[in-house]
Amino acid sequence: MQTLQQTTMSVKARATAAHPHRGYGKLIMFGEHFVVYQRPAFVAALEAYTWCEVELTPETEWGCGLVVRDVREAVPGYKDEKKDEMLESTKIVLKHFGVDPAKRGVAITFGGPLCAVSGVGASAASCVALARALAEALGRKLTEEEINAAAFEGEKGYHGTPSGIDNTAATYGGVLRFQRSATQGAPPSFESRKLVRPVLVVYAGTGITSSTTKVVGEVAKKRAENPQWYEALQKRYESVFARADEAFRRGDWDAIGKLCDENHALLQELGVSCKELDELVAEARRAGAAGAKLAGTGQGGLMFAVCRDAASQRRVFEALSKKAPQAWMTSFL
Ligand code: MEV
Repeated sequence: MQTLQQTTMSVKARATAAHPHRGYGKLIMFGEHFVVYQRPAFVAALEAYTWCEVELTPETEWGCGLVVRDVREAVPGYKDEKKDEMLESTKIVLKHFGVDPAKRGVAITFGGPLCAVSGVGASAASCVALARALAEALGRKLTEEEINAAAFEGEKGYHGTPSGIDNTAATYGGVLRFQRSATQGAPPSFESRKLVRPVLVVYAGTGITSSTTKVVGEVAKKRAENPQWYEALQKRYESVFARADEAFRRGDWDAIGKLCDENHALLQELGVSCKELDELVAEARRAGAAGAKLAGTGQGGLMFAVCRDAASQRRVFEALSKKAPQAWMTSFL
């Protein structure tokens, strides 16, 4: 038996309970897509998280099989769109832990305050939460590195070639500089960045659930067809990243905003933006944001804006709330 039950019932009640098995959401501040090709990136984990509960029973109790209940908050359409990938990913993580639902009962529940939407790392958050919950159910003490490695395997169920940035942010939290190794199979390098003062952010959804497999595949095709064009774009991205690195050290959010604008323009040229993202980015700038860009896969999903102060953050939030199906305010430190 394999089922994926979707319900929004009792989400709030469950989210308020203490759930130790968590994976955080994230926004990629700089470097989506370029990170796949070993360029450095900055990612910031959200406070909002997905939790997971796992119940394992011997065959005798209620039979074998896998039941997945998904009570996460989510934007309309997201869960339907990702249903098959979630099931595939769950099976990969179970296999990684040596758990065979053909031999025992496995009941998994996902929930939590992270609203599942393309671009927020919802898949990685649930993979990390699942790895933590499974480890406990099996009585295994895993290191954070092992949790991250298990979640990385699960991410492959969502798209075959993840860079690992999302699961790393979902495991460790905070603001990270992340870079994939150029050596096949070698672990990525990442380091935590303590910001000198909080950066105030508004993020908003387009209402479009995007497919990471499709968009990453399109970029790969364009890169293979026109390597010189891609290399030139990547060089410009490297310059954006180097300046963002400096601006992060100074806590210069005005400069970070402008660099977000530059990074967004590069992503437009790469072909991963869309009309809806461009309109929200423009609206955020009109409302006084220091800068804005798409976040994550693109061709739908999310954008975010960096704001100069709390009053400006409120104004940008109000402006985006009028245009976007969903908007959120947060800060990173
Ligand atoms: C998705 O959140 C980020 C991408 O760069 C893909 C990846 O890094 O695996 C588009």
